[in-house]
This record gives sequence, C-alpha cells and structure tokens, in this order.
Amino acid sequence: MDPKALETDAQSAIAAAAGPDELEQARVRYLGRKSELKQALREVRDRESGMTLNALRERLEAAFAEREEALRGAELERMLGEEILDVTLPGEEALRGHYHLITQVRREVEDIFLGLGYEVVDGDEVEDTYHLFDALNMPPNHVTRSPLHTLFLNGDVVLRTETSASQIRVMESREPPVYMVSLGRVYRRDTIEPKSFPIFHQVEGLAVDEAITVGDLKGTLLYLCRALFGEDREVRFVTDFFPFTEPSLGLAVSCFLCGGAGCRTCKFTGWIEIAGSGLVDPNVLRNVGYDPEQVSGFAFGIGLERIAMLRHGVPDIRLFWENDLRFLAQF
Ligand code: DAH
Repeated sequence: MDPKALETDAQSAIAAAAGPDELEQARVRYLGRKSELKQALREVRDRESGMTLNALRERLEAAFAEREEALRGAELERMLGEEILDVTLPGEEALRGHYHLITQVRREVEDIFLGLGYEVVDGDEVEDTYHLFDALNMPPNHVTRSPLHTLFLNGDVVLRTETSASQIRVMESREPPVYMVSLGRVYRRDTIEPKSFPIFHQVEGLAVDEAITVGDLKGTLLYLCRALFGEDREVRFVTDFFPFTEPSLGLAVSCFLCGGAGCRTCKFTGWIEIAGSGLVDPNVLRNVGYDPEQVSGFAFGIGLERIAMLRHGVPDIRLFWENDLRFLAQF
C-alpha cells in the first residue's frame, strides 16, 4: 500500500463529496473497518510504518471532520437563503379542555349555597355502617343494608350509597347551628342502564337551628330550583318517606320545558320530581347528641346527574362516563 497515493485519493474524494451521504461513503471507503488503511494498520510490525500510518489516519479524520463542518455550514446558508419563515402566520391552535358537565353542575350548586351562607363540606366515599345506616335511623332490616344493594368493602366498611352520612359527620363534630352542603360520588350495586349507573353524584344539604320549619326548607329549595332552572319556576311538595326525616317530602319543580302544559319530560303532569327532603328526624338529632327540644332542621338530597340530564336534555346517563369528546365538548 502506498500511503502517499492513498492520501491523495482520499483527500480528493473528501473535497469532491457534495453532501453528507457522499462524504459518509468516502469515510467508509478510506477509514472504515475494511478499508485499506485499517487493514494495513492491523498488519503493522515496525514502529516507523506504524507512526506513518497513524499520522495519515489522523490527517484523514481531521479532513473528514472539516469537510463535514463545511457541508453543514453550506446547508444552513442555503436554508437561510431559500426557505422563508413567515413569523406572522397564525400558530397551531392549542386545544383547551374544560370541566366535565357534572363538575360544572357541582360547582354551580356549591356557588348557589355559598351565596346563601352555607358551608361546603367534603364527605368520605368510604363510610362505616354506623354513619351510613344506624345513625341515619335505618331499621336493621332496611333494604340498603343488603350486599345486593350496597358495595361492602370489608365488614362494616362500605362505599356510601348516599351523601347523607355527611350530615352525621358534621353534626357529630360541632354544635348547632349548622348550614352545610356536601357534594360527591355515591355508589350502588346497580346495573348499567340508560337511567342508572353504579356511580353517580349527589348534593346533600342540612340546616339545623332553632325553630327551623318546612317553610324554610321550601324557600331554600325554591331558591335553588330558580337558580338552576330559571326564575319562573315554582315548587311543590309530594309525600315521601326516608328513615332520617319526619315528615319526608319529595320536591317537584314546575316543568321548565313545557312551562306546565305537559310534555314527555314531566310525564304530562307539569311537574318534575327533583329532590328528596324533609325535617330531620328527632332520632337523628339525638344520635348526634343534639336536643330535638332545642333545635330542629331540614335536609335534602339531589342527584347531580339528574339535574344535568333534565337541564340539557341528556337522554342517557352512560354518556357521562364514555369520555366521548363529541358529547363532552357540547357543554
Ligand atoms: N339520601 C336520599 C337518597 O339517596 C336523598 C335524601 C332524601 C337526602 C331526603 C336527604 C333527605 O337529606 O332529607 O335517595
């Protein structure tokens, strides 16, 4: 192998390389593992030719690096000269998310009650049977104590079936007066159907003070219904039963779709049942150490999905869980 001739060849190949690919081909050819120079280096036995060949390798490596730099610089010059970047063009739009409809309704209800001077209290989704059942005056054989209805986690630890246990937690922790709402998830062993889902949301409300009456309950819920469904709404009570209220009252709001004339949503009655409510049962007050001779209270519970479905005409509760943006983006 003639080092001089090889160097001349390699240097002219480097100079001739018009782009990165050609340069790489030349590098493989003159400095690659199977190149003449590398073979010769492997066979070197004396110090002098070793020094000559290594010096040659270093010169070639430097020449390749230099040419690579030059090519890169030329490419940059070309791009700057030819490619036009219009910085005034609009950028790509960043899509912004927003709260889920149920979260929107939840915050709206919270705001309404904060405006009335109520406190918003967090409850626990995992409860014990004392707070969920016993303290709420549920008899021992009540259907909701059945594992067919309620999801038991372990012994007397359950996923709450209603937010009402938060009433007990709050009253246990302080003396009256109490004005609170508590909103969150509840769990029932229900099948997944257009109108039922094993997880949904409720708002629980509780007011305990001296001389609270059904009139206070009705006025409060009328205010809520007008805030949620429009200023023209009226409310009326129907009879109902809950173990923790006496009397128990279902609340119906005048239909905001037909204005009372009768439609499918109100089942042609002009009224839509929206809330369970009543005056807090004296047994419940006693269970938390309050004196029913001194204080009285009202309580109510409403499903947030139901509010959202009625207000926006959502036909199927499962839509809230499917994460389909075509649905969610509408709200
Ligand atoms: N907890 C009831 C339910 O899940 C709703 C309810 C009714 C809550 C009456 C109350 C109440 O606080 O007084 O159906």
